[in-house]
Amino acid sequence: MLPSDLDRSRIPNHIACVMDGNGRWAEQRGLPRTDGHTAGEQALFEVLDGADELGVEWFTVYAFSTENWRRPVDEVQFLLRFNEEILLGRQKELHERNIRIRFIGRRDRRVPRRLVRRMDEAAVLTRGNTGLTFTIAFNYGGRAELVDAVQRIVDGGAKRITERTIARHLYDPEMPDPDLVIRTSGEYRISNFLLWELAYSELVFSDALWPDFRREHLYAAIKEFQDRDRRYGGVAGPDEPDG
Ligand code: IPE
Ligand code: IPE
Ligand code: MG
Repeated sequence: MLPSDLDRSRIPNHIACVMDGNGRWAEQRGLPRTDGHTAGEQALFEVLDGADELGVEWFTVYAFSTENWRRPVDEVQFLLRFNEEILLGRQKELHERNIRIRFIGRRDRRVPRRLVRRMDEAAVLTRGNTGLTFTIAFNYGGRAELVDAVQRIVDGGAKRITERTIARHLYDPEMPDPDLVIRTSGEYRISNFLLWELAYSELVFSDALWPDFRREHLYAAIKEFQDRDRRYGGVAGPDEPDG
């Protein structure tokens, strides 16, 4: 149930999630870490549904970072395969729900060709959809994104660089900056997620491990967002005069 204190007219336009804590969730149960990733799928789609129902237009998740290659080879292999299976298993349903699937991240040679093909298929299948845009950050790093942007700007021979130049060369120039970034598992860090884009995002940290994250946690994060005063370097908004 939607909490009555949530203001339906001030739902964040773009919510981004650092889905963290899968490994610890599994370890607490004496299970292999990979079982935590499997359990995280339910949380992901429950939160996606919840966001969609509230009218959130952009929903982005951090699925695999440029640093996650440092994990044991078995876990990396599992994650590659798991992401492919999720795409295969869910794209039809998401398409029917008018959800547009997009990807941000580096497509280097470590990402298996087959997975790249699946990502392209899902993006092409759903590109004309007009509902929520579901962006999956895969082999994504905020620094890598900026390096790639700058490289393309240099290759294009630009002489004068503005903030707009950088923004236009990010992986998805159409993606608006996140209003709300949620990180689970009680870690208070960004871990190289959306470094450029989150300049003025509201950050909400949840102690829930990702596989335990449910709609109520999403609502609580949105509530916390609504209680913040976004000043963008200015002064307090009109409803909250200074003093
Ligand atoms: C997040 O959970 C999923 C990915 C990074 C792919 P973790 O696997 O990082 O879980 P913890 O942080 O080790 O508990
Ligand atoms: C961030 O989580 C990456 C993803 C959720 C995909 P990590 O678990 O990799 O981050 P650190 O290592 O705790 O900073
Ligand atoms: Mg982690």
